[in-house]
Amino acid sequence: MNNFCERKSPSPSKLNGASRFAIEKLYGWGIRMKRPMTLTIFTGALLMTTLGAIGATPRLGSTIKKSFGKTPDGQPVDLYVLTNISGAEVSITNYGGAVVSLKVPDRSGKLADVVLGYETADGYVNDKSYFGALVGRYGNRIAHAQFVLDGKTYTLAKNNGENSLHGGIKGFNKAVWAAKVLSTKDGQSLELSYLSKDGEEGFPGNLKVKVIYTLTDANALQIEYSAATDKKTVVNLTNHSYFNLAGQSSGNILGHQLMIQADKFTPVDASLIPTGELRDVAGTPFDFRKSTAIGERIDQEDEQLKLGGGYDHNFVLRRAAGVGESLAARVVEPTTGRVLEVWTTEPGVQFYTGNFLDGKTAGKGSMTYPRRAAFCLETQHYPDSPNQPKFPSAVLNPGVRYHTITAYRFSVEK
Ligand code: GLA
Repeated sequence: MNNFCERKSPSPSKLNGASRFAIEKLYGWGIRMKRPMTLTIFTGALLMTTLGAIGATPRLGSTIKKSFGKTPDGQPVDLYVLTNISGAEVSITNYGGAVVSLKVPDRSGKLADVVLGYETADGYVNDKSYFGALVGRYGNRIAHAQFVLDGKTYTLAKNNGENSLHGGIKGFNKAVWAAKVLSTKDGQSLELSYLSKDGEEGFPGNLKVKVIYTLTDANALQIEYSAATDKKTVVNLTNHSYFNLAGQSSGNILGHQLMIQADKFTPVDASLIPTGELRDVAGTPFDFRKSTAIGERIDQEDEQLKLGGGYDHNFVLRRAAGVGESLAARVVEPTTGRVLEVWTTEPGVQFYTGNFLDGKTAGKGSMTYPRRAAFCLETQHYPDSPNQPKFPSAVLNPGVRYHTITAYRFSVEK
């Protein structure tokens, strides 16, 4: 069984202090390190401050916590604002673990919020687009909402036609996660934990999930996913941030230049389930091996683009197994010079061009986001892997640690 990637740890040198600390402390997982690493947790000056008032200005290199509203059943949820030493800032809510805003500089140093989102928890409670959310237990689609493990058929909720999408009706994006702030030498970190119970949305096994977001001082948002199960199950965790590098209120993303490190992609049927083929991108509008404007070919007469209403496809990343994170994609926004690189330990990435956005959703700053106002690069195992024996396996066994890392690294081009 091809189980490469996350079921193995990336090389210890890829893990930052916060990650190691959290994994070892909370799960007791012994990570073998070639050499001891000194863990530096800056308490005191970098300690989280709890602020009730919206609008309080965060200090550089700090994390603050604000109230973000309540769930429909009255549970309070919070917003954590992580600011690095150069002023980049990410806000994350423990409702669905969603990245609510992400402010990074352009080539003149001007910050803009480059992700779509909502201003309060209510927006995320009602959301159907998965803005910024942590997606699980199985990100992307499972055909006919069914799969078989060891001869037993598991039936999931159908929430996308006949299929299961993004974990079902109440996926991880609708859960309230336990949150803990960690301050490390790498930057500001937020650890989110969730127990997905045996049978939740039809999936077998109690799954203990932990996600550590770190805003590094080098302007990267690193996301480290860990999980452990007590019964054989399938797992595919991702983040569903919608990016617009010109700023979240800047119209469409068709002028962004994209490179994806993929020679193949997984073509889909009419319900966006992979056919099982790994198709060469060469000679198709899916060839992003050289940086190309997202809009250059998006409306071409192409069967796959028609099925997706644009790009909504998994790309097979060109990466060697077991090498830690590799570059998956690079996006440049020419007018602001902002650059996003996506690095991951995962074998695939779903490139989605916001084809279902319809300008009716009220987002931050009273924005209503039109079709193709943003793009997603969802690092993942391929869609429908539980039913596709030739795809890298998404099975997780008891006693094995699920562990993946994805980093969104921001910089500028002059
Ligand atoms: C993923 C899917 C899309 C769509 C979005 C959410 O990217 O592949 O088809 O469902 O999530 O709207």
